[in-house]
Amino acid sequence: MLAVRGLRKVFHPNTLNERVALRDVDLDIDAGEFVVVIGGNGAGKSTLLNVVAGDLSVDAGSIRVAGRDITALPTHRRAQWIARVFQDPSLGTAGSMSIEENLAISQLRGCRRTLRAGLRDAERAHYAQVLTPLGLGLEKRLDARVDLLSGGQRQALSLLMSTIRRPEVLLLDEHTAALDPLTATRVMEATVRIVEESRLTTLMVTHNMQHAIVYGSRLLMMHQGRIVLDVRGEEKARLSIEALIERFHIADDKILLQS
Ligand SMILES: Nc1ncnc2c1ncn2[C@@H]1O[C@H](COP(=O)(O)OP(=O)(O)OP(=O)(O)O)[C@@H](O)[C@H]1O
Ligand SMILES: [Mg+2]
Repeated sequence: MLAVRGLRKVFHPNTLNERVALRDVDLDIDAGEFVVVIGGNGAGKSTLLNVVAGDLSVDAGSIRVAGRDITALPTHRRAQWIARVFQDPSLGTAGSMSIEENLAISQLRGCRRTLRAGLRDAERAHYAQVLTPLGLGLEKRLDARVDLLSGGQRQALSLLMSTIRRPEVLLLDEHTAALDPLTATRVMEATVRIVEESRLTTLMVTHNMQHAIVYGSRLLMMHQGRIVLDVRGEEKARLSIEALIERFHIADDKILLQS
């Protein structure tokens, strides 16, 4: 579903501040895989998601989604296939609009139709139906302005908005990191339910080692712009936090020896 070849991204090339954020990254993600991405600060995780989404251009390499080469397409053209949820709950939603208006906009994304003045009862009922399983009571507040919601409620809404029109690839960049532990768990549970129900192909960045072990069907570790660990299935299920930290140190030592 997602095929990345020889991706390279260098910030501030040929200057003292040169940063190689992606070093010839190859990655193939099958349809329906739920891939968790971990790695230290500056490892290249967000850069990988940003080049896939189109926010950043690449210096070399190619990106294909379901066989289409999207490397040269701008972000808004990729948005019909690629959905995202950011760390900051305010980024994915329009604060001055109501919950139902936000959902209506995401339902229409990429369509030629424009937002009508009023919403039909059938649409309202559909939005209430998708909001109910979140367990946050948002289905009873369809006309509430989004900037009145808590960060967790807003993030749960962002998640629904990004998945209401089933995307081919879902990108989650530390989308629970700004939430308190209980709310983070709720949003993670909603994520897993939506990803599994819709069998979404997902790339999720997290610093939460427990989440990395428990969730997802495959785990990638990045370090200094490279993928240094790629495990799935049984091997992933057997991982412990201690083992992951050890793998991280091994990657660090290897790279130190190489440089
Ligand atoms: N817009 C930018 N301009 C310059 N350098 C950047 C930019 N974005 C990222 N970098 C650099 O690229 C490298 C990879 O950064 P990236 O944000 O992808 O890391 P990350 O793995 O997401 O880290 P974190 O866990 O802190 O979010 C770092 O060295 C970072 O300083
Ligand atoms: Mg990041």
